[in-house]
Amino acid sequence: MGWFSTSKLLVKVKLVGTPHVRRITLQSSPTSITFEELLTLVRIRFKDVLLRDTLHHVDAEGDRISISSDEELRDIVQEASGSGLTVLLHATPETLSSITQDAQGWELVSADETPEGEAGEDAPIARVDDIPYSNTLRFWINGAEHSLQNPSPSLLLVDYLHSCGLYGTKVGCGEGGCGACTVTMSLASASVKGAHRHIRPVEPCGLSSRSKDELSSAPAEVASDTQVVSINSCLRLLCSVDGMSITTTEGLGSSQTGFHPIQDKIAEGNGSQCGYCTPGWVMNMYGLVESTPAGSLTKAAIEQNFDGNLCRCTGYRPILSSFKEFADAQCDEHPSPNLAATSEQRLCEDIEDSGACARKGSCQGSSQCSSEYRRAPPLHPDVLKYQSNLAPLHFVDPVNGSEWYRPVTLAQLWDVRAICAAGSKAVSLVCANTSMGVTKYFTAGEVGEHGIEGVASEASCCSARRDSDDNAPKVTIDIKDIAELQGAVVDDDRIVVGAALPIAGLIGVLEKVSGAAFPSLVRHLKRVASVQIRNVGSWAGNLMIAKKYPQFGSDIVTVFAALSIELHLASTRGQRELTMEGFLSTDLYDDEVITSCVLPRMLAPAAASTVVYKTYKIAQRHVFAHAIVNAGFLLAINKEGAVARATAVFNGVCPQILFAKATEKALTGQKINQATLQAVLAAVEGDISQAGGAGDDPRYSEGYKIGLVKSFVYKLFLEAQSSLPPALASAIVPFAAAEDRPVSSGSQGFDVNAAEAPVSEPIIKLSAKIQASGEAKYTSTLSPGTQGLYGALVFASEANVKIVSVDPTAAVAMQGVKGFVAKSDIPSAGSNKPFLLMEEVFLAAGDKAPCVGAQIGLVLADTAAHARAGAKAVKVVYSSASPGEAPPVLITSLAMAKEQNAFYAKKTIDDAIERLPFMGSRSSRIPHAWHLGRRLPEHLQPFKVGTPSDTRPPLSDLLGPVLGANGLPKLITGSFKTGAQKHFYMEPQSTAVFPQEGGALEVWSSTQDPVTACTTIAKLLGIPKTQVTVKVNRVGGGFGGKLYRGMPLGSAACVAAFKHQVPVVVVNERVDDMKMIGGREFCDMDYEAMYTEEGEILSTNMKMSMDVGSFLGDAIIDVLFASTFADNCYHTKQFFALCTPYFTHTHHTTSCRAPGALQGILMHEVVLERVAHDLGIPHRQVQEANFYKVGQKTPSGEEIGSATFNWTIPQMWAKLKKDCDLETRQGAVDAFNAANRWRKKGIAMMPVKYGIALNLFKSGSLVVIHDDGSIAVAHGGVEMGQGINTKVAQVAAFALGAPLDCVTVADADTSKIPVNGFTGASGTSECSAKSVENACDALTAKLMPYKAAGRSWKDIVEAAAADGVSLTANGWYENKEKMIPGTDNYATYGVSCSEVEVDVLTGEVQVLRTDIIMDQGVSLNPDIDIGQIEGGFIMALGYVLMEEVIFDKAGHQLTLGTWEYKVPSAYDIPIEINVQLMNNVPNPDGILKSKASAEPPMALVGSVFFAAKEAIYAARKDVGNSDYLSLQLPLTVQGIRQACLIEDRQFALS
Ligand SMILES: Cc1cc2nc3c(=O)[nH]c(=O)nc-3n(C[C@H](O)[C@H](O)[C@H](O)COP(=O)(O)OP(=O)(O)OC[C@H]3O[C@@H](n4cnc5c(N)ncnc54)[C@H](O)[C@@H]3O)c2cc1C
Ligand code: FES
Ligand code: FES
Repeated sequence: MGWFSTSKLLVKVKLVGTPHVRRITLQSSPTSITFEELLTLVRIRFKDVLLRDTLHHVDAEGDRISISSDEELRDIVQEASGSGLTVLLHATPETLSSITQDAQGWELVSADETPEGEAGEDAPIARVDDIPYSNTLRFWINGAEHSLQNPSPSLLLVDYLHSCGLYGTKVGCGEGGCGACTVTMSLASASVKGAHRHIRPVEPCGLSSRSKDELSSAPAEVASDTQVVSINSCLRLLCSVDGMSITTTEGLGSSQTGFHPIQDKIAEGNGSQCGYCTPGWVMNMYGLVESTPAGSLTKAAIEQNFDGNLCRCTGYRPILSSFKEFADAQCDEHPSPNLAATSEQRLCEDIEDSGACARKGSCQGSSQCSSEYRRAPPLHPDVLKYQSNLAPLHFVDPVNGSEWYRPVTLAQLWDVRAICAAGSKAVSLVCANTSMGVTKYFTAGEVGEHGIEGVASEASCCSARRDSDDNAPKVTIDIKDIAELQGAVVDDDRIVVGAALPIAGLIGVLEKVSGAAFPSLVRHLKRVASVQIRNVGSWAGNLMIAKKYPQFGSDIVTVFAALSIELHLASTRGQRELTMEGFLSTDLYDDEVITSCVLPRMLAPAAASTVVYKTYKIAQRHVFAHAIVNAGFLLAINKEGAVARATAVFNGVCPQILFAKATEKALTGQKINQATLQAVLAAVEGDISQAGGAGDDPRYSEGYKIGLVKSFVYKLFLEAQSSLPPALASAIVPFAAAEDRPVSSGSQGFDVNAAEAPVSEPIIKLSAKIQASGEAKYTSTLSPGTQGLYGALVFASEANVKIVSVDPTAAVAMQGVKGFVAKSDIPSAGSNKPFLLMEEVFLAAGDKAPCVGAQIGLVLADTAAHARAGAKAVKVVYSSASPGEAPPVLITSLAMAKEQNAFYAKKTIDDAIERLPFMGSRSSRIPHAWHLGRRLPEHLQPFKVGTPSDTRPPLSDLLGPVLGANGLPKLITGSFKTGAQKHFYMEPQSTAVFPQEGGALEVWSSTQDPVTACTTIAKLLGIPKTQVTVKVNRVGGGFGGKLYRGMPLGSAACVAAFKHQVPVVVVNERVDDMKMIGGREFCDMDYEAMYTEEGEILSTNMKMSMDVGSFLGDAIIDVLFASTFADNCYHTKQFFALCTPYFTHTHHTTSCRAPGALQGILMHEVVLERVAHDLGIPHRQVQEANFYKVGQKTPSGEEIGSATFNWTIPQMWAKLKKDCDLETRQGAVDAFNAANRWRKKGIAMMPVKYGIALNLFKSGSLVVIHDDGSIAVAHGGVEMGQGINTKVAQVAAFALGAPLDCVTVADADTSKIPVNGFTGASGTSECSAKSVENACDALTAKLMPYKAAGRSWKDIVEAAAADGVSLTANGWYENKEKMIPGTDNYATYGVSCSEVEVDVLTGEVQVLRTDIIMDQGVSLNPDIDIGQIEGGFIMALGYVLMEEVIFDKAGHQLTLGTWEYKVPSAYDIPIEINVQLMNNVPNPDGILKSKASAEPPMALVGSVFFAAKEAIYAARKDVGNSDYLSLQLPLTVQGIRQACLIEDRQFALS
C-alpha cells in the first residue's frame, strides 16, 4: 500500500502490576503494511501477550486510541507522522523475559535506557485515568433518560426504581427466587436471544471455519435489532444497566394511560389475587411477547416461560390461561383430549362468537393478533447510538469510596487490575450478578443464624462485595461488556462460546446448530435457574460459583464436564486451556478470567457408531430448583457394540463434584449388557466411597443419593439400547421438566343467579387491573420520605440461651445508620408484652432467647440496605450455661419434645384461650369443642386439647355393647407424621409508621387484624387507642401468617417512630421473615381403629401431637382445629381426637390456611386408607361406607342434613365419579401399571367437610352515599387477595339497587371501623358483606320513598339529598344468637379426584389431572371462589409434596429462603384441573345463601397424596410386596423413591 512511512515502530510493553515499561522499537519499518500484517508481526513477537486483535496507540496528548482496521491504522500513522507508533501491550515478567532482541528488527530497550521524557520506569503509560473512562451512567426507564454521575456500585436496580417512585416492581425475596421484581431490559443488538450486547451473529451451522483465536480477537459487531429480555431487578446492579432501556409495569400502561393488553388479560382472567406477584408476571410475559417473532408465539412457549415467577395465591391456572390467550395459534392447540371443552376452547369460541376477535372461523391471521400486544416503543435513537459505542466506565461512590469499573476490552481490564493492585484495592468481578441470590447460602452467617460480624455497609447488597476483604476499599469490575468475552462462533466440529454469553444465549446458539449432544444439553440448560436468570446469568459465572463453593451442585459444570468441553482462560500471564476437572482443581491467577469455552460437535472418534450423551437432574421441585443430584454421561459405542469412550460425572452426591473414574473404567471396552450394568453399578458405589461418601447431608440420605445415580445409570443403559421391551420403554420418556408437560388446561363451571346480580356474578376483582399495572399500594411499598428512616430487625441467633450483652456500637458507626432501638426505648407507661402477654417485643441483656429469630432490637438507617447491613453488625453475646453448669437441653423437634415430656400444661392452654382476642370470655363465648367436651363424661369427649395423659379406656371396652352382626371388629394401630409449612406470602411482613400531631401514630401494616394491632400498639406505648390509627390498604398474601405474627415487627417500628418522631418503615427480608415466623406445625399421630369386614369404622382413637414452638399463644387455635375438624365427612360410632401441644425451642407457630384442620383431616383419612388396605378393598369403598348419613350427628352435635346444616357430599361424590369417568380411568390406571415397570399411576378421591363457625367473626362497616350517587363503603375486613372488597361491593350494589361501578371500597382503617374481628378462617368476606348489607338495608329504607319505577339511582339519591336525608349508615354483624358453643353454623363441602404418575426410578411425580366439585352455596362471586379453590389446592399440594421445614440440632432452620424452600411452581400444578361449583345448593344458614371459600379446599389435596400412594403400591407390588405402607408428609422425591423398594438387581435390560 505504500502509505506507511514512519522510520520506526515503537512498541511499549507494560508490566502488569507495576508502572514499569519496556520499549521495543522496530527499526526498519515496512513500507507497506496492513493492520492484519502488523497484528501478525506483533503476535509472532508477543504471542503470549496479545490477547485480542485490537491494538492501542497513545498519541501526543496521552489519549489512547484503539486500532482495529487498516483505516484506523492509516489515520493514526498519518496523524503521528514521524513520531512513531506506540503500541501498548501487557506482559507479565515471564512473558517479557521471553522477548529477546533478535534479528527481526526489534530492539528491546531496557528501562534504564528509556529515553528521558518518554514513559519509563516510573511513568505508567496506561493509567486508567489517562484514558476516557466516563463517570456517567446513562440509561433509560420507561423511555425517559436517566443520567447519573458516580452512582453507588452497590445500588440495585429495584431500589433505584423505588427511589424514582416506581413501586410497581415488587420485592418478594430479593434473591432471584420469586420473580416479583421482573422488569424488561431492551438493548440494541444481538441476534442471539439473551445476549448482553456486542453479540457476534452466530454463523449458520458449518459455514464458518474460524479458529478459536478469532473469537477472542475479532472486533465486536453490533446488530441493530432490539432485544427485550426479562430480568430480576433485585439482582441487577444499577451500574450495570448502562446503555440499557428498562421497562417496568408502569411503562406498559396504567389507569391513567390505559392498561396494556397483558395487564388487562391477567386481571380479567382472574390471575391476580393479592396482586403482589402480578407485575412480575406481566413483565415476564411482556418480555416473551416482545422477544418472539410475530405470529410464532405458541401456548407451549408461553407456558414454558414462567419457571421464574411464583404465585402463592392463584394456583397458576388462571394466569397461564390468561396468557395463553396471546398465543398466535391458540385454536389449533387443544392440549387435553380428555376434556370435552377446555376453558381455552370455550374462550376461543366465545371470542369468535362475540366477533371481537380478528381471527374468525379457524383463527387465522394469528400474527395480527400478537402484533396488537407488542407495544415496545422502538428504541430511541440515542439509546442505539449510545449502545453502539460503549465507553469504559469508572465510578467512585462519593460517600464510601467504593469503585465501579466497566472496561470494554481485556486490555482495559488488565489496566484496571494493575491499578487496583498498585493501590492494594480488593477487587471483585461481576458479570450479571445473579450469583448474589445463591452464594449467600454457602457463606457462613449470611443466611444461617450465626451472625455476621463487622460486615461493611454494602455487604448485603452485592455478592461481588462478599468476595473481597471487607476492610479494604472495594472495587467492582463489570466484565459483561468486554468485547473479547462476547458471542459465539460455530465451526464444523465445535462451538466457541464467549464467557459473558448468558445461559439463554448459549441455549439459543445450541438450538440453531446440530450436534449429537446438544438436544440433551439444551434440555438440561433449560432446567438451570429461571428464564429471568438465564436471560442474563452467564455460564462462566455459574462455573466460578462452582469453583468457589463445591457444595453448589452446579448443573452447568456437570453437563459441560460430561461433554468434555475445553475452557479458555486469560490473565496477564497469558492464555491457557483447561478441562473442567483441571479448572476445578487448579488455582486461578488473581487476574485470570474465563474467556470462552469450546463445545465439541463431534463427540466421538469416527469409529464410534453411536454416541449417547445424557444428563439428569433431580430436584425438590420440577423447575427453578437446584439439583439434589445431577449427573452427565457420554458413551461412544463402536460398531461392535462396545463402549469406546465413557465419561461419567456426578454432582451433589458427595460434598464435591465427582469425576467417576471407576464408573468410566467399568464402562470402557464393555458391551451394553446386563453384566456390564451390574459392574457399573458396583463401580458407582466404588467411586462414591473412594470420594469419601455422601458426607453429612441433613436432608437427603446417602442411600437416596446413591440410588438416584444408579437409577441414572440404568436409564442410560436403557437409552443405549436400540429397542426396549414395552414395560421398560416409559422409563426413559422425559418426565419432569417444563417442556415435558403437555400444555396445561382447565375448566371452570358455575351458575349465575341473575335475580341477585351483581351478587353471584363472576365480577373481576375491583383492584385487579391496578394490581397488574403496579399502581396498587402495599405497606411494603410505602416510603418513609426524605425525613424518615428504614428499620431492620436484629434477631437472636441462638436458642435457649441467655443474652449476655447487646452491642450496637459497630452498627451505629456504619454508613447511613442512624440509631438502634431496643427494649429500653419502650415508654415506661407501655409494655414489652403488649400482645397476648406471652411474647416480648424485644429481648435484652439478661433475658433468655427462647428460639432463633426472637427480636432483640431494630437498627434505623437512611436506606433499607444500610439498615440491614447495620442489623447484621450488632454484636450479641450469648451464654448457654454458667461455668460449671450443664448446658440446658435444647429441644428442636417434636420427637425430642415428646421424649422430654415438654407438653403444655392445661393451665397454659386455658390461659392461651382466655387471651385470644376473638375468644372473648371463656365462660360464654368459646366456640370450640374443648368446652363442649368438658361437659361430657371424660371417656365420651370426642375432641380434646390436652396432655398425653388424657386417654380414654381401651377401644374394646368401649365398643363391647355396640358390636353387632359382623362379629368381632378388627383392631389396627398405626402412626403418621406430617411436616411443617411456611406461609410464603409474597409480601413479607411490613409496617410503616407516620407520627402525627400530638404524639399520635398512623400505622400502615400488612396485618390481617388491624383492630388487634391497634390495641397492641396502644398497650406497647402506653397511649390511648385514639392516638393510634391502623390502616391496611391491601396485604400481599396472608394465609394466617399476618394475623398475629406481624405484631412484634410492627411494635418495633412503632417504638422507633414514637421515640424519634420520624416516619419508620420496616419490611422483613425473605430469609428473616422465614426465620422469625413459624407456620403450620409439625404434627404426628398414633391411632387405633376398629372396623368391620365391610369397612365400617366403629371406633377411631387419634392421638395427635403438635409442635407449636416456643410458646403456645394463638397456636392454640390450630391445636383445637386439628381435633375438631378431624371427623371430616365420616361418622364413627366412637370418635376421639386428642391433640397435645408440645414446646420446642423453635419459632412460635401460627395459623396457616386451614390451620390444624388440614392436618387433622388428612390424618383421619390415613386411618381410612389403612382400613381399605387391610381389607384389600378400594379406599373409595371405605370412604363411602363411612360417610355421614342424613340425621346423624357430628361429635360436635351438628345434625347432618338438618334445616340449617345441609349435606351435599353424596350428590357431589356421585357426580364427581361420573364426571371423571372414574371406573374407566381406574381400569386404565391398572392397565398402565401392569404394562409399565418404572412408571406407575394412581387415582384417588377425597371429600371435605369444613365447618364454619360464624360466631368467630364480628364485622363493622360504614356506608356513605354521596349526593352524586357514588357510594363509599368501609368495612373492617382486610383485602389480601381473597376478593373481600369485590364481594362487599357486589353485595352493597345489590342491597341498594345501585350500579356496581358507583361503589368504592375504602382501606381498612381503625379510625373508621374501630371494632372488628380478624380477617381469616375463611368467613370474613361473608360476614363483612353481611355487615355492609345491614347498613345498606338501613339506607334502602331511607331511600324507599324516592324509589320509583324507571328512576335512576342517581336521581333517587339526588332527590333524597335535596330533602336533607342523611345517607350514612353503620353496619354490624355478629352471630351471637345462633351460637351453640362448639358447633359450626354450616360446613363448606367439596370432593376431588386426582390422578398422578410417578417416575419410580427417581421419585418424581406429576399430577396428571384433578377434578374438584365444591359446594359454595350460592357463591357471592364464582370467579373469586374458584380462584380460592384452585389457589388453596395448590398451596396444599406444596404441603403434601415438596415444602419442607428442617431444623438442625441447634435450632437453626435449614430451609430458609427461596433457594432451600420450594413452593409449587406453575409446572407442579395438575396438567388438567377442572373445578365446578355445585348448582342449586343454597346454604340455608349462610350469608346471602353463600358459603365460605379459601380454606375448605385445602384438604382435597388428600386425593393427590393417596393417588401417589396408590402408584407406590403398584411399584411395590412388582417386587412382591403388598404390605401396608406408612408414609409421612411431605411426600418428597426422596420419600417416593425410597418407598418403591428399588434394588440394583431389579434393573433389567430386557
Ligand atoms: C434463584 C437462582 C436459581 C438458580 N438455579 C440454578 C440451578 O438450578 N442450577 C445451576 O447450575 N445454577 C443455578 N443458579 C446459578 C446461576 O446459574 C448463576 O447465578 C449464574 O449463571 C451466574 O452468572 P452471572 O453472570 O450472573 O455471574 P455473576 O454473579 O456476575 O458472577 C459470579 C461469580 O463469577 C465470577 N465471574 C463471572 N464471570 C467470570 C469470568 N468470565 N471469569 C472469571 N470470573 C467470572 C464473578 O466474579 C463472581 O465471583 C441459580 C441462580 C439463582 C439466583
Ligand atoms: S424479588 Fe427478585 S426474584 Fe424475588
Ligand atoms: S396473586 Fe400471586 S402471590 Fe398473590
